[in-house]
Amino acid sequence: MEKFIPVVVLKELEDTIPTLTALKNNGINCAEITFRTACAKDAIALAVKEFPDMSVGAGTVINAEQCEQALAAGAQFIVSPGLSVAVAKICNERGIPYYPGCVTPTEIMQALELGITTVKFFPANIYGGLKALKALSAPFPQVTFIPTGGVDRSNIDEFLAFDKVAAIGGSFFVKEALEKAKNA
Ligand code: 3PG
Repeated sequence: MEKFIPVVVLKELEDTIPTLTALKNNGINCAEITFRTACAKDAIALAVKEFPDMSVGAGTVINAEQCEQALAAGAQFIVSPGLSVAVAKICNERGIPYYPGCVTPTEIMQALELGITTVKFFPANIYGGLKALKALSAPFPQVTFIPTGGVDRSNIDEFLAFDKVAAIGGSFFVKEALEKAKNA
């Protein structure tokens, strides 16, 4: 999987290409396009078509219907803020990676029961940051994490230094890329 997962919120469909171009030009080959805006499904389809060498997934997928829409649009991975058993089952059937948000031992155990060993840790800053990840890794050595929420340049390196961190998620990747593109 990609090491950096930018959380992309697109207000308009026409923002898709400039945003993904900025990410790509900033060395990031991935985009988690979130179902927080109405154009998510169309934006994913457009991104998959226009950026075939990027890993395009769907984020903020909170139910089976959104998951079906994301997969129909060509999403290559699915991310949720929490854990949805319905979404997990669909992804499992289609062989699509699913990264549910898990911050407690019970949630992690539920993910493991669904065959998931990489989870989103969200909101990372509120749920104890790196200290919490290290504590959770003791009973769950088979699990890797994607800390997201409150991660930025000030703390990304400490997360990356921990070997149970599979990837980093965050909206700051998008902000950085767009700022760079604007100043170019
Ligand atoms: C998400 O849904 O993953 C978060 O909104 C990302 O959090 P951030 O904006 O603090 O990176």
